[in-house]
Amino acid sequence: MNVCIVGTGYVGLVSAACFAEMGNDVVCVDVNPDVVSTLQAGKVHIYEPGLEDMVRRNYAEGRLIFTTSLAEGMERASFVFITVGTPSRPDGSCDLCYVEQVAREIGQNMHKPVIVVDKSTVPVGTADRVRAIIRQELDKRGVNHDFDVVSNPEFLKEGDAVSDFMKPDRVVVGTDNEKSAEYLKTLYAPFARSREKLIVMGVRSAEMTKYAANCMLATKISFINEIANICERVGADVRDVRIGIGSDHRIGYHFIYPGVGYGGSCFPKDVRALINTAHEFSFRPELLEAVDTVNNRQKKRMAERIAEYFAQQGGVSGKTLAVWGLAFKANTDDTREAAALAMIEMLTAQGMRIRAFDPVAGEKVREQLAHNPLVEIVDGQYEAVQGAQALLVVTEWNQFRTPDFERVKSLLTAPILFDGRNLYPPSMMAELGFAYFCVGRPDPA
Ligand code: UDX
Repeated sequence: MNVCIVGTGYVGLVSAACFAEMGNDVVCVDVNPDVVSTLQAGKVHIYEPGLEDMVRRNYAEGRLIFTTSLAEGMERASFVFITVGTPSRPDGSCDLCYVEQVAREIGQNMHKPVIVVDKSTVPVGTADRVRAIIRQELDKRGVNHDFDVVSNPEFLKEGDAVSDFMKPDRVVVGTDNEKSAEYLKTLYAPFARSREKLIVMGVRSAEMTKYAANCMLATKISFINEIANICERVGADVRDVRIGIGSDHRIGYHFIYPGVGYGGSCFPKDVRALINTAHEFSFRPELLEAVDTVNNRQKKRMAERIAEYFAQQGGVSGKTLAVWGLAFKANTDDTREAAALAMIEMLTAQGMRIRAFDPVAGEKVREQLAHNPLVEIVDGQYEAVQGAQALLVVTEWNQFRTPDFERVKSLLTAPILFDGRNLYPPSMMAELGFAYFCVGRPDPA
């Protein structure tokens, strides 16, 4: 089948490569000529395991084409996927300017029947808005082509995006048009092999499903972080509590790891966007508001404990903290809404120096934080620790899981470790002689 994908971010490029992998002819359109020429040179501008190989192979075999021209992209396409960014406005609402611009251009370039697929995460009602914009553009041109606007939200995790696309838990298709549903079923058949995995529903329900899924997952994380905060105060260990509650199959063990709060491009933005939508409809979503509040607090919790610890030693000003991990989670270079950045901002505002290392996101953060003279991004995890007063682990990269603790101890001025991801057994850390602070356990005496 012929597919056009507009926007080559995480979602667009992964979708394009995976559709091409199944033998479809895919044209990727991006307004940024630098991105297009990078992709044409066989390089991928984002870090996503497995993606570069797949892009390169399908490009070489001619199933994947990159261009800045939507007209070229739509020439033969039966599907046009909208996968452009939907950034947050300062009030938390979703900025649809890129989606609307693409809708206008689709209307200007349509010359045959096509199914337009909204894959960007957009507020409920956007498919109707996209439909109206396209219709308006067709009317301006005085032409009438048969088209449908379908909602097909993505559920890709960064770092696992390729395998999530290839083996999805489900594919949600929102349309009231049976023909569109059949076309999308055919396109997705190689991925959603069992029929039950392809769930067809109304357009607005599909749009809402995406927000409901992300808000549910964000709620699980804020819930366990709230429990962790109480554990710290009452002398319980949240790691045991997680196992204790997870054994109830109605709860389950997954996605209830306490930590530094959720970050990334989806959860924070989507929770705020749904809160905003609810407000627009005169409804106060108190639970979601609390999920967001708890998360904002959690992102700074470890920094607060560091400040409390050093308060007895004249404060953090002039002290140096080694930071392991800057990306919002492991296996990605994404630092959007990353807890590490929130903590660094808070501690440097109090005069603390930071020596940080991340295996992938370091270079990006070096540029982002170039204005802050208290932050140094270094190229090795042990180099970060050299001469620091304490170590803070923020991202759960594998290489931080079993480090050479003796070496860490000898490089730090004192063996103090703050662990935002509960990577190490507290008893082992005590034996090694560390003052070890982790999430959801009382501070060591
Ligand atoms: C998420 C959704 O999982 C995906 O389905 C959606 O399409 C996009 O948003 P992603 O943002 O890539 O994916 O990351 P995910 O692995 O879900 O983690 C989100 C955040 O929650 C990270 O900051 C992670 O560290 C945190 N998290 C996750 C926890 O703190 N505890 C957990 O138990 C799980």
